[in-house]
Amino acid sequence: MSEFNTKECSTSSSTIRMTKDRVSVDNKRIINNGRTTDANQLVPIKYQWAWHYYLDGCANHWMPSEVSMQRDIEQWRNPKAFTDNERHIIKRNLGFFSTAETLVGNNIVLSIYKLVDNPECRQYLLRQAFEEAIHTHAFQYIVESLSLDEGEIFNMYRETKQIYEKDEFSMSCTQGILDESVDLKTKEGKQKFLNNLVSFYVVTEGIFFYSGFVTMLSFGRQNRMPGTCEQIQYILRDESIHMNFGIELINTIIDENPESWTQEFKEYLLQRIKRAVELEVSYAQECLPQGILGLNVQLLREYVQYIADRRLEKLRLPKQYGSNNPFPWMSEVIDLRKEKNFFESRVTEYQTGGALEW
Ligand SMILES: [Fe+2]
Ligand SMILES: [Fe+2]
Repeated sequence: MSEFNTKECSTSSSTIRMTKDRVSVDNKRIINNGRTTDANQLVPIKYQWAWHYYLDGCANHWMPSEVSMQRDIEQWRNPKAFTDNERHIIKRNLGFFSTAETLVGNNIVLSIYKLVDNPECRQYLLRQAFEEAIHTHAFQYIVESLSLDEGEIFNMYRETKQIYEKDEFSMSCTQGILDESVDLKTKEGKQKFLNNLVSFYVVTEGIFFYSGFVTMLSFGRQNRMPGTCEQIQYILRDESIHMNFGIELINTIIDENPESWTQEFKEYLLQRIKRAVELEVSYAQECLPQGILGLNVQLLREYVQYIADRRLEKLRLPKQYGSNNPFPWMSEVIDLRKEKNFFESRVTEYQTGGALEW
């Protein structure tokens, strides 16, 4: 029996034990490494995808303060630049994102990081947690630049039913995992954790963010709120990497623990995702009582259904809606290589490392 077969050795960074037994890549697992390997050694890397997502995240580094908000400030101050409905939708989206980013970061640090004890996945989780801090920073920066009422924006998730319901949908899963009785050795514990991962990576970051992305970027396509939209474009790109990492994480945990992937559990997740689609459409309805910018609730419904089907396929679950994508331009925004065609503003150089002076 390996000397790594001690709980302290793998899950705690503060306890190690002397041994000549070296980590074997074959013994690495996403969860429950305590039985087989060491959480403190990145190499040998088994999950190359996790390492590559980490490198992609680092290559996309950006900071909110690099983006000029000057034109947004001028436009926001101009009473004729936006209708009341347009101001409503912008504030609703800022209200949703400003706290949702923090919820996602908290869930990584408080629950996912604790339970995923594979080092290369943790390397990515550390990067992602920092990116969530940058995203929260971005919304703080936008709210401050536009001189919006901070209290109104940051309390919106407790005061607006449609935002509250989305956040409560995900946050209830953080609470479930914080419970010390969750045991990842059991099928029930694994399913509880998988439900948390699906609720955050697939639903929050993969569905709940998308009405906001489409509506905000529709302003950007008209050269309105260019600084805000540039930041949202970067966030969308980060989020698309987060979601892809999360789905790979979920599918690998399922492959390594096939007993957790029961028909009953698949049906449960399917119902959860369908409920999430309803919540997102209801949010879009509240944001957009009247059609603006060529958008209306029906188009947003189709879009939310279209992306939900894409997420379901990646999770190896059956598609539910069969809707077409009414906003094909969104795919171009996510694609790094097509950035220059989207905004006619400056192109940010992501690889900022060379600009540092020592
Ligand atoms: Fe984020
Ligand atoms: Fe994220």
